[in-house]
Amino acid sequence: MTAKPIPFNRASLVGNEFKYISQALEIGHISGDGRFTSQCHQFLENELGVGKALLTTSCTHALEMAALLLDIQSGDEVIVSSFTFVSSINAFVLRGARPVFCDIRADTLNIDEVKLESLITPRTKAIIAVHYAGVGCEMGRILEIGAQHNIAVVEDNAHGLFGKFRGKYLGTFGCLATQSFHETKNFTCGEGGALLMNDPRYFERAEIIREKGTNRNRFFRGQVDKYTWVDLGSSYLPSDVLAAFLFAQFEHRDQIQAQRRRIWNYYNENLAEWAVKNGVRLPFVPGHCEQPWHMFYMLMPSLQARQRLIAHLKAQEILSVFHYLPLHLSEMGKRWSGKEGQCGVTESVSDRVLRLPFYNELNEDLQARVVSAIVEFDCA
Ligand SMILES: Cc1ncc(COP(=O)(O)O)c(C=O)c1O
Repeated sequence: MTAKPIPFNRASLVGNEFKYISQALEIGHISGDGRFTSQCHQFLENELGVGKALLTTSCTHALEMAALLLDIQSGDEVIVSSFTFVSSINAFVLRGARPVFCDIRADTLNIDEVKLESLITPRTKAIIAVHYAGVGCEMGRILEIGAQHNIAVVEDNAHGLFGKFRGKYLGTFGCLATQSFHETKNFTCGEGGALLMNDPRYFERAEIIREKGTNRNRFFRGQVDKYTWVDLGSSYLPSDVLAAFLFAQFEHRDQIQAQRRRIWNYYNENLAEWAVKNGVRLPFVPGHCEQPWHMFYMLMPSLQARQRLIAHLKAQEILSVFHYLPLHLSEMGKRWSGKEGQCGVTESVSDRVLRLPFYNELNEDLQARVVSAIVEFDCA
């Protein structure tokens, strides 16, 4: 009998998802900004302590909103680590920005703040700090550099909801920050995101941009007697059906995070000995960072060992994945003269990183299968 496949990811219901979707229908408001959307906003604002949160249709769209709010124009430069998802920079390139790729630190795989300053020019408009695996970038230094050069710092916190840096939640450092509720994230509604704002100067314009460039929110609040087109914008607000699903997940924050902590610790403890013997590096979380248990990755000793392990696991119906390919070497990255050797750490990590199955319902029996398949593998 063949073993049941273990997927890389699988979304799960945690409580009141369907009940709240029915309630949204009963209330008769399933377009954007209904009751559940505002409950999600309140939850994010209260739990994180951000000035204002707005749900969006994805993290990608929240990043696009950030680019619009920062008035990114053709020829502006935006610095981002090369080891990230395309949206971290594509959202800014859409507005005409030139991407400037920075290498990453070898320990946290986050943007290397030491290399950042040499990339700044008079055209630099923003630095995008991606908290890889929800482990914080060196925000103290990055904010200092931003302030010295008058450059906005945006946190792409797609992985990092409830992660902390020096005791403070990720997403509360930059003038703007973005979250993802894609099905691969700790909290999901399938596709979704949020824009977090820590600077009040963006609050009102963000509402307008999210509502197709209209002042419709002011109209609903009775502040104007009709609404009209006042700025650039698009339709970045999700249906209240999705917000209902998401709020049901938020309600189980502690349970979800505890399950994921158990999964992460199980991998970390049970793979430690094998990792040392095989020259494999397990995730590193600095003492001043608290991680949100989003993913478990390993850095294999070589590309060849990584590819062999993926095949070895696949033969046992276990799906492991790798990401990201260096952005500076992508087809798009090369348009801005991306070259091999430009971001050496990114290139090496990208060849060697491997992510293990990780989802809320991954129980210990399934995880034991993943671990025993790995520990029988010899990297040499
Ligand atoms: C770092 C990072 N930023 C942005 C995104 C885009 O998120 P979404 O799928 O919600 O648009 C992802 C996707 O996983 C990501 O990993």
